[in-house]
Amino acid sequence: MIREEQVLEALRGVEDPELHKSVVELNMVRNIKIEGTKVSLDVILTIQGCPLKVKIQEDVENAIKALGATEVRVTFGSMTEQERAELSAKLRGGATPTTQGGISPLLSPDSPVTFIAVTSGKGGVGKSTVTVNLATALARLGKRVGVVDADIYGFSVPEMMGITQRPTVIDNVVLPVQAHGVKVISMGFFVEDNSPVIWRGPMLGKMLRNFFSEIHWGELDYILLDLPPGTGDVALDVHQMIPQSKEIIVTTPHATAAFVAARAGSMAIKTGHEIIGVVENMSYFECGQCGSQEAIFGKGGGEKLAQELKTELLAQIPLGQPNYNPEVPGAAPSIYEEDSKIGSIYMDMARKISNT
Ligand SMILES: Nc1ncnc2c1ncn2[C@@H]1O[C@H](COP(=O)(O)OP(=O)(O)OP(=O)(O)O)[C@@H](O)[C@H]1O
Ligand SMILES: [Mg+2]
Repeated sequence: MIREEQVLEALRGVEDPELHKSVVELNMVRNIKIEGTKVSLDVILTIQGCPLKVKIQEDVENAIKALGATEVRVTFGSMTEQERAELSAKLRGGATPTTQGGISPLLSPDSPVTFIAVTSGKGGVGKSTVTVNLATALARLGKRVGVVDADIYGFSVPEMMGITQRPTVIDNVVLPVQAHGVKVISMGFFVEDNSPVIWRGPMLGKMLRNFFSEIHWGELDYILLDLPPGTGDVALDVHQMIPQSKEIIVTTPHATAAFVAARAGSMAIKTGHEIIGVVENMSYFECGQCGSQEAIFGKGGGEKLAQELKTELLAQIPLGQPNYNPEVPGAAPSIYEEDSKIGSIYMDMARKISNT
């Protein structure tokens, strides 16, 4: 005979796939009934039509069958407004919403999270590409990683990572979307049909702050911030909001690009942000047939910039596109496979960064 306590104990090991907490702890399991080896129970979902219902059902059934049950019947329900509000308060933990003037524990000076802002002097050099691939590489090393798409007007991270779903919202708490092992938040999740964002400066800072305080990130080792080009409002907000943030500066190999990127670097130095290193992107083109390397965009920019900023040249990334098949669900147009040439350069970079 299976006992109720055994069922509860077994279900402690089953996590809500989004919240990463046990379904028992989240008070999602109710009404357990046992007749011999037949078990029935209710699972109360955080939202109706939860997309991960099938996964939860499977995990619950397997856990109970492991106890020797021959039949498991799961009935799904959804939480009441009141229950959702309680859960959201629980998830917030010590976080005070910005509306009350508090700061998120993630942003507190003793936060264990390493923040890395990816920046450059000018647009189109590959900041977003470097952000999403470095984040994915760190996740491939087993790190817990979040990406904040801080390019509020020009968001591109969801598209680049092949994310089509929107975040789940429980009461006022937003759960980041997970893709390629990385938790992501972007303005792109909150606008309709790719419409332009038309806010002015102060609103940008507010939104960026919300990306920390209103989002249930869970425990993280790294947060990478994909910054908009230049040294504008958002970059300043990041400097103020996360003074402990480190920086990676992306440049192309061209001398003038490095010259412009140096301005982003000197801003980091002025604000006391530690520069982890320089990434030279689009360094060369390697001929697929003969293997010869052509310096299409010039040479030496990354090295020169690293010297100027007294930092390391972390990587030189050649031109090349990921092997992308839009037919494959979850495939991402901008994420390189781990064992591809460029993918392994990102893995080396992630190892370097996580060892320091
Ligand atoms: N190593 C590379 N090889 C080929 N294409 C690349 C490489 N790196 C980036 N790209 C492409 O270059 C374009 C610009 O890259 P990306 O969007 O990452 O730059 P960005 O610095 O974030 O731009 P923005 O300033 O507009 O935010 C994209 O189309 C991207 O796919
Ligand atoms: Mg970008």
